[in-house]
Amino acid sequence: MSGHGDPILMTARKSAALHGVAEVPGDKSISHRALILGALSVGRTEITGLLEGQDVLDTAKAMRAFGATVTRNGPGDWTVEGVGVGGFAEPEDVIDCGNSGTGVRLIMGCMATSGITATFTGDASLRKRPMGRVTDPIALFGARAVGRQGGRLPMTIVGAADPVPVSYTTPMPSAQVKSAVLLAGLNAPGQTVVTEREATRDHTERMLRGFGADIRVEETAEGRVITLQGQPELTGQKVAVPRDPSSAAFPVCAALIVPGSDILVPGVSQNPTRNGLFTTLVEMGADITFENLREEGGEPVADLRVRSSALHGIAVPPERAASMIDEYPVLSVVAACATGTTVMRGVKELRVKESDRIDAMARGLEACGVTIEEDQDTLIVHGLGAGNVPGGATCATHIDHRIAMSFLVLGLASQAPISVDDGSPIATSFPAFEGLMVGLGAQITRGA
Ligand code: S3P
Repeated sequence: MSGHGDPILMTARKSAALHGVAEVPGDKSISHRALILGALSVGRTEITGLLEGQDVLDTAKAMRAFGATVTRNGPGDWTVEGVGVGGFAEPEDVIDCGNSGTGVRLIMGCMATSGITATFTGDASLRKRPMGRVTDPIALFGARAVGRQGGRLPMTIVGAADPVPVSYTTPMPSAQVKSAVLLAGLNAPGQTVVTEREATRDHTERMLRGFGADIRVEETAEGRVITLQGQPELTGQKVAVPRDPSSAAFPVCAALIVPGSDILVPGVSQNPTRNGLFTTLVEMGADITFENLREEGGEPVADLRVRSSALHGIAVPPERAASMIDEYPVLSVVAACATGTTVMRGVKELRVKESDRIDAMARGLEACGVTIEEDQDTLIVHGLGAGNVPGGATCATHIDHRIAMSFLVLGLASQAPISVDDGSPIATSFPAFEGLMVGLGAQITRGA
């Protein structure tokens, strides 16, 4: 059964100005999709810049278990020889997706319309997360799911041997659910239609088109309507994975709150379905310039020049939530160092991430001397202003990489050091985090 290694206590201390170039790793969402779409294609997919975090490595292993040939040629440089749409073989053993909700939900989607059976599990965090949001729509195609109470892993999916196409409106803003339905729709005859009321990250749609699928997106009064023609022949592609804006968020926010900092974060995706944090930071008074706007790997990217800034709290528009859903933990850290109040509403999806991120941030910020308010769908942070966060706590990370990195960023600008009880989950998305931050001048160490 999946676990993660021994806990790694890590500590961040008040740091001098951060300087240098922060080259963050490849995008996690795009990396998962590159491997999965490569496996569902005919021929060879060549991937550069793949994120080699544990989440993505677990997806690579899963694609091998379903019959694809996945080879690592060098750092970030991978090839996938696919089996084609509908070509998945039945895995011989349980598929362990580790910590990755994206991995398990997307893979459940793409095996749900082939006549095979697979059993999925994950680590203690993933085994708590709801899978009903994916098993409900794949049941409409004809797949069956048997899991633990509350739709939790371990879970067995019996794929539909004779799938029917589906029209589905996602009940929550979730790119994972949307993507699972689209991937299931690949092997159903006819048209599968997914409607989402609020736009979520659109990498699956962009990449499906790039791999040769017939996919149409319309903006309507009901939301974004995505129509996919089933049973296409996808063909292997070259995929250059752009850098991950969700990982860039950590050095960017650190530079904003550590006085005198001035850093460059090159090649960060500016995809409008992902860049809500940067818009929010600028509204809070952040000095960020977006240089060399260009296209890389089918995504708009820019080099971000970030200088430390006097920040003020704002009310983040709830309709922006989907475009920055993974960035609220680190935003709440920035909010603690800003003057005034930052109000984050419409964020209940944070409660079902790798941890309950509203609770994890609220408890940790309180332990660091910051006043917060919360309800099921809201987090409010009363900022103390630059240099005024007391710190001096050990924060629980709940097997959640973004909680660990967020509190380590706060420790760089708090009066007393901040520790996290377990930094090991950082390896799921940003294995180079510690070295990269230390290289900029951050005082982050292992131990107390
Ligand atoms: C992701 C979608 C988001 C996000 C996750 C990655 C994806 O989850 O939180 O880190 O790659 O599709 P939801 O779809 O559950 O919002």
